[in-house]
Amino acid sequence: MKFIKVNNYEEMSAKAAEIIAAQITLKPNCVLGLATGSTPVGIYKNLIEKNKNGVIDFSEVTSVNLDEYIGLTPENDQSYRYFMNNNLFNHVNINKEKTFVPNGMAQDTAKEGADYDARIKALGGIDIQLLGIGLDGHIGFNEPDSCFTKETHEVKLDESTIVANSRFFASIDDVPKSAITMGMGSIMSAKKVLLVANGENKREILEKAFFGPITPEVPASILQLHNDLVVIYSEK
Ligand code: GLP
Repeated sequence: MKFIKVNNYEEMSAKAAEIIAAQITLKPNCVLGLATGSTPVGIYKNLIEKNKNGVIDFSEVTSVNLDEYIGLTPENDQSYRYFMNNNLFNHVNINKEKTFVPNGMAQDTAKEGADYDARIKALGGIDIQLLGIGLDGHIGFNEPDSCFTKETHEVKLDESTIVANSRFFASIDDVPKSAITMGMGSIMSAKKVLLVANGENKREILEKAFFGPITPEVPASILQLHNDLVVIYSEK
């Protein structure tokens, strides 16, 4: 693992964007595993800038997102599909048909999960997976549990995640109580993993996840087993 500490959010965003841009340059038809949350927004801004300046070309890129809330349509401005369109896809020359986000409206979430994993496999796996980290150590929406789940699956969100994510909703009651998330299988099969974290409140969980024991109670700790992991952390 490479743990890089930087001075501020801008530096974290610029560094992470450089790594993703390098991936696109080296393999124009790469598969990017993308994440939502507030942390990656600056990375996406940098990538948009690089695309506008002709430094990177998204025309052959495919993307697969980590997760989606159950019950939110793609048009709902709190859905992760909406977030991705708004923060990245609408502003770069990516083919939207090659951008995938789990379907939070699927009737049969088990089938949706199996189809999502099959799609990732058919694409040849993920070249680089971008991750944030929740205060309870979740990655995607893999919440603390008694075991690691491999497949894309439905999860009940922890109270602490609902509280943390309520800042994006009009009221806490509007936060969906469940989600569909990529499991540890696809995440750990990614050729490279890039995890970004920002803020003093993330320090404790980063210590547990990357310098403590590997346990499903701290989902991100499984990343210690990944042989190409970069963590970029800015305390401020
Ligand atoms: C959500 C997402 C995660 C994200 C986490 C942290 O729960 N499902 O993928 O990493 O929030 O978000 P933030 O970056 O806003 O702290």
